[in-house]
Amino acid sequence: MSDDRRTSRRKEEHVQLCTDADVRFRRKTTGLERYDFDYVALPELNFDQLDTSCEFLGKRLTLPLLISSMTGGYDGATAINAALARVCQRRGLALGIGSMRQALESNAHAESFRIARREAPDVPLIANIGGTQLVQGVGIEQIERLVALIGADAVAVHLNPLQELLQPEGTPRFRGVLDAIAELVSNLSVPVIVKEVGAGISGRVAERLVEAGVRIVDVAGAGGTSWAGVELLRSDIADHPLAELWDCGIPTADCIVEVASLRTRAPLIVIGSGGIVTGFDAAKAIALGADLVGIARPLLQALQRGGETELERYLDAWELQLRAAMFVTGSPTIGALRNAHLRQRS
Ligand SMILES: Cc1cc2nc3c(=O)[nH]c(=O)nc-3n(C[C@H](O)[C@H](O)[C@H](O)COP(=O)(O)O)c2cc1C
Repeated sequence: MSDDRRTSRRKEEHVQLCTDADVRFRRKTTGLERYDFDYVALPELNFDQLDTSCEFLGKRLTLPLLISSMTGGYDGATAINAALARVCQRRGLALGIGSMRQALESNAHAESFRIARREAPDVPLIANIGGTQLVQGVGIEQIERLVALIGADAVAVHLNPLQELLQPEGTPRFRGVLDAIAELVSNLSVPVIVKEVGAGISGRVAERLVEAGVRIVDVAGAGGTSWAGVELLRSDIADHPLAELWDCGIPTADCIVEVASLRTRAPLIVIGSGGIVTGFDAAKAIALGADLVGIARPLLQALQRGGETELERYLDAWELQLRAAMFVTGSPTIGALRNAHLRQRS
């Protein structure tokens, strides 16, 4: 089988497993449950006058929400990206596209990526490539091609050493990735976002990224989808010697606090993601220091369950929860929510 067909098959398996199997962390949580909102009995606000909008990549979002990078590169991905893009366009949300490595290997599924911009002409759209690809021959020119393919507003580089280690056909080769990211930041025509895929970016790692010039970090912490789990399920090995790594990773809440603390050194946009499910989770992530949040698997599952109608219903409830959190913390805007107090549960 050719490389591009192998990549396509893997992308399809990922979506299937994330839809049908329980690939959440088993013992670890996001850590957001350690916090409560500090209830404000004197909010001096009207519920119908809250402003949930924020700016991201030079565009206005109606909610501080990014649909995290998921898919592209096989037949079924076109319908998924089209639906996600339509919902983002209708509601004014940002959208991440799944790894575009396949588009560099062949033109066969270019439409599965291109469709996103066609259906969402006005939203921030984010291209995606693996950090390990940057040290295996994918250079700036090729990444500019990916940017052009979807009219991307930014490129997300995913760091996924744990996933590559456990992926049966993975390439756990990360030597040189930081230098390659620095070069990309200096030369690319659009901003670079660095993200994990659900095991988290610590403050220490983010510090090195900031030194390399990165100004947008998506923590993608532990507590939601376990990509070690997904790859362990794809592996045929019984009693896998690395099975314990299913729960490897840093809780999302800890990542947000650590990475946001680096704002004293450089202007930094922090995306809080990994296990964000409700609007309450989002509000806590923002109060801990995130500018906006990202959600992947729960939105894919809503879409697969009941199409765009179900996804819209999910987002209606999510928005109501976010607004409720803003009201009970006396936060009229997302900026104010960033300064809301949380109480750590004892
Ligand atoms: C089906 C699926 C495919 C994904 N593919 C990619 C990918 O290609 N590139 C990437 O950076 N992240 C990918 N992710 C990871 C997500 O962007 C996200 O970081 C991770 O799932 C944690 O968020 P969650 O707990 O909300 O699912 C994928 C997630 C899902 C559910």
